Amino acid sequence: MNNNFEHIITSIEDGIGKITLNRPKVLNAINRKMVSEILFAMESMDNDEDVRVIVLTGNGRAFAAGADIDEMANASAMDLELTNQFTDWDRLAWIKKPVIGAVQGFALGGGFELALCCDILFASHNAEFGFPEINLGVMPGAGGTQRLTKLMGKTKAMEWLFTGERMSANEALHYGVINRIISDELLLAETMKYAKKISKQAPLSLRLIKESVLKAVDYPLYEGMQHERKNFYLLFSSEDQKEGMKAFQERRRPNFKGK
Ligand code: CAA
Repeated sequence: MNNNFEHIITSIEDGIGKITLNRPKVLNAINRKMVSEILFAMESMDNDEDVRVIVLTGNGRAFAAGADIDEMANASAMDLELTNQFTDWDRLAWIKKPVIGAVQGFALGGGFELALCCDILFASHNAEFGFPEINLGVMPGAGGTQRLTKLMGKTKAMEWLFTGERMSANEALHYGVINRIISDELLLAETMKYAKKISKQAPLSLRLIKESVLKAVDYPLYEGMQHERKNFYLLFSSEDQKEGMKAFQERRRPNFKGK
């Protein structure tokens, strides 16, 4: 992969692709270039056989404090329409491999929306989530009103979006926004350890489980179950299904190849 990025740092090691947002002086405020770099890195990792799991994190005292306000302050509606940058954000949610987010400090506005694109979220005790867009006279534009509502329900989502108040890590855990709270010092190490564990799972199963769970969010139950069933059947055309079941019968560990 081209590692010549301006606003992110990437690495691939031991089956794990790591992307670190790296504009710490502005709390990793997300400008257009950063979004396209994240997208490029994620899509490259998604297509890279050496990567099984992607970890997304931030450098410094924030995961990301939102879209770059300085970049958009003077934009016209037509600038935004023509730049159409939110399609890049949409594509972030189409990554097929598991994406695990490690959130330290602020995850606000677009930073929270980016976190909500992850499949699993770990956060440190000092993490704070929120949609302060209301204080800027705008609103979330990269999925915030939709994803938060699907996660916590209409009543609670309204409250957070109307007030723009910040949710603590404990509250985020309570509402099912994050999976785990980890101490600040151990956040990245524990996230990598968890990513390592997931990276050992059958890759095609991970891929189709992720796809099926995401469909559950959008589809009515019956359609979702039909989709799940087809994915279940599809896995029987993989070498890993033969290997997994044979290994069970032979009382040994399976050797999954993602084929
Ligand atoms: N855009 C541009 N710069 C930002 C930024 C942002 N979203 N968030 C922080 N910064 C910059 C600050 O301007 C400051 O820069 P200088 O040192 O050059 O002054 C630097 O980061 C450090 O920030 P603060 O001095 O403000 O740090 P703090 O600890 O006092 O406050 C904060 C932290 C509460 C997160 C505060 O920075 C803040 O409120 N940031 C804006 C949060 C926000 O409104 N996010 C939503 C953006 S809109 C959006 O995301 C739309 C969408 O849906 C895509």
